[in-house]
Amino acid sequence: MKTYLWQEEGDAIDRSISEFTAGEDVILDRQLFVFDIRATAAHVRGLQRIGIVSEDECTTLCGWLERLESEFEAGDFVLDERFEDGHSAIEIYLTEKAGPAGARVHTGRSRNDQVSVATRLYLKDRLAQLAALCGRIAEACLGRAEAEPDLPMPGYTHLQRAVPSSSGLWMAAFAEAFTDNLSLATAMASVIDCSPLGTAAGYGVNLPLDREGVAADLGFARLQVNPMYAQNSRGKFELMALQAAWHSMQDVRRLAWDLSLFTTSEFGFVRLPREYITGSSIMPNKFNPDVVELLRGRAATPEAAITEIQSILSLPSGYQRDLQLTKAPLIRGMESSLQALSIVPALIEGMEFQADRMRSAISPDMFATDIALEQTAAGVPFREAYLEAKRKLDEMDAPDVEASLAQRVSPGGCADLGLKLIRQRLAQAKSRQGDI
Ligand code: ARG
Repeated sequence: MKTYLWQEEGDAIDRSISEFTAGEDVILDRQLFVFDIRATAAHVRGLQRIGIVSEDECTTLCGWLERLESEFEAGDFVLDERFEDGHSAIEIYLTEKAGPAGARVHTGRSRNDQVSVATRLYLKDRLAQLAALCGRIAEACLGRAEAEPDLPMPGYTHLQRAVPSSSGLWMAAFAEAFTDNLSLATAMASVIDCSPLGTAAGYGVNLPLDREGVAADLGFARLQVNPMYAQNSRGKFELMALQAAWHSMQDVRRLAWDLSLFTTSEFGFVRLPREYITGSSIMPNKFNPDVVELLRGRAATPEAAITEIQSILSLPSGYQRDLQLTKAPLIRGMESSLQALSIVPALIEGMEFQADRMRSAISPDMFATDIALEQTAAGVPFREAYLEAKRKLDEMDAPDVEASLAQRVSPGGCADLGLKLIRQRLAQAKSRQGDI
């Protein structure tokens, strides 16, 4: 039977109702539990500074909280349906272990700011992981671009052969994308980096809580000042984190799409590392890029989470229990994205370019734009040169592709990939990462 903090002697608790209100939620709280415990310790230290909890009580409570964290990590304390939520579990544990001192722990806070602070710490942690993964993916792409800057490869628009391009240009595109994604994760984290603890139910309390001290203790950059906004930003901050994750997953989706095309027999530009390929149960001849396809499909998870949370956030000001329903999509969206992103660096490092196949897919007509542009350097108006090149499309000989790539000197183009610039930007983005 569940234990409720607010339950009075004789209160009847209906099992199906409690299953409905708290069933999955307490299990999801396992992801937030460690953060909830740490925030509780900071709150206790804050209460001690304003004389609500004695020094001895503070030491005892913080000692038990540390113990609870290690018991939980070791699997000796199980957070499950016995509790309404993780918050109740902490208070029940402390009261059981420390008696009256434990009964003081909830002074000046509500589960509303408690869940908010634990979620905030979770978001900061996961955004730091997201930023680190983006950095690793950008590094991997940049490393490939630096190692093989100029293997000729067709450039496509509308999935039709367009102009000659290179392996370096393809990889540098993702290096720059993930540099931006790293910056986005850091930027979102800096908005989220404010402490809601001590705002209680959403209206403050009649105690001089040391909110600043507690925020600093927990490593927050600043206070979230307004108590009502602390509640109104629940869901909003979750969306910011998911959006940062989604942008990374969207770039993974594009990379996975490219790879699923480039690994077909028709293209044959890339071979995947062996661990990223599976076989077929019926067709002995098959090698399937399942991992790449699942990476592509995984972008749906943060996207669906964003939609679900947006649908929940049609609410008036203040805490509403609907907000609890933001927890499942948040956790699913973040964990799924981080897991997917974590297998991308080795994929990029381990894939092999099939230089001959890439080169032989560059047909003579793909040099038409070059030929037209060469004429413009000699003073011919572009439109005239374009029409002339178009007329000669069928008689075109394939020029030397390396020479053609070497002439693509526009900044960012094949002859001037700007890898140093991207590396510099990546270093800058990484240096801001430490601020999370
Ligand atoms: N499980 C709840 C949530 O996630 C905790 C806060 C409960 N607050 C309340 N007033 N019932 O929102």
